[in-house]
Amino acid sequence: MTTSHGSAALHRLLRLAYSAERAAAYAYQGHARSVADFGEKTRIRAIEAEEWLHRDHVGRMLGRLGLRPSPWLEFKYAVIGRIISAACHVIGHFQGMYFAGRLESGNVNEYLHLAKLIEGTVLADELACVLEMARVEKEHEVYFLSRIAVHPWLPWFSRVFAWGPGKSFNDVPG
Ligand SMILES: [Fe+2]
Ligand SMILES: [Fe+2]
Repeated sequence: MTTSHGSAALHRLLRLAYSAERAAAYAYQGHARSVADFGEKTRIRAIEAEEWLHRDHVGRMLGRLGLRPSPWLEFKYAVIGRIISAACHVIGHFQGMYFAGRLESGNVNEYLHLAKLIEGTVLADELACVLEMARVEKEHEVYFLSRIAVHPWLPWFSRVFAWGPGKSFNDVPG
């Protein structure tokens, strides 16, 4: 059932996005520490800041609906974020960039989906903010792909993990 406070799917997606944004921010803390290149480090730190900002926006939307974050998702995604953060030191430069880009590719769709779910709800006035978050996630996807564009493993990973040059989970032009 859809009300002016939205559907169950909207509530679920907001809670998921809120917790997943913190997982992303934690993951990028480790990712930034694991890379040697200063330019990459700086860019990944800026991306981390953008994920915190997304969490603030989604938190505001939850609040406007009178909802609280899910304690279970908060716990689960905090653990996931910490694990990815630590894993960045082990998996190496290529895989860190590859899997970050692949995740970001899916995040774009989450916000495009959110944009549809807020139609006709009290959050309808958040549309510009939600679309901007989708745009920024696309920017993240494109950035990570650019870091590994000429890596010899990319064609192989692209085939196995279904993401790479010309292969995105979203239809947004890079
Ligand atoms: Fe984000
Ligand atoms: Fe992102």
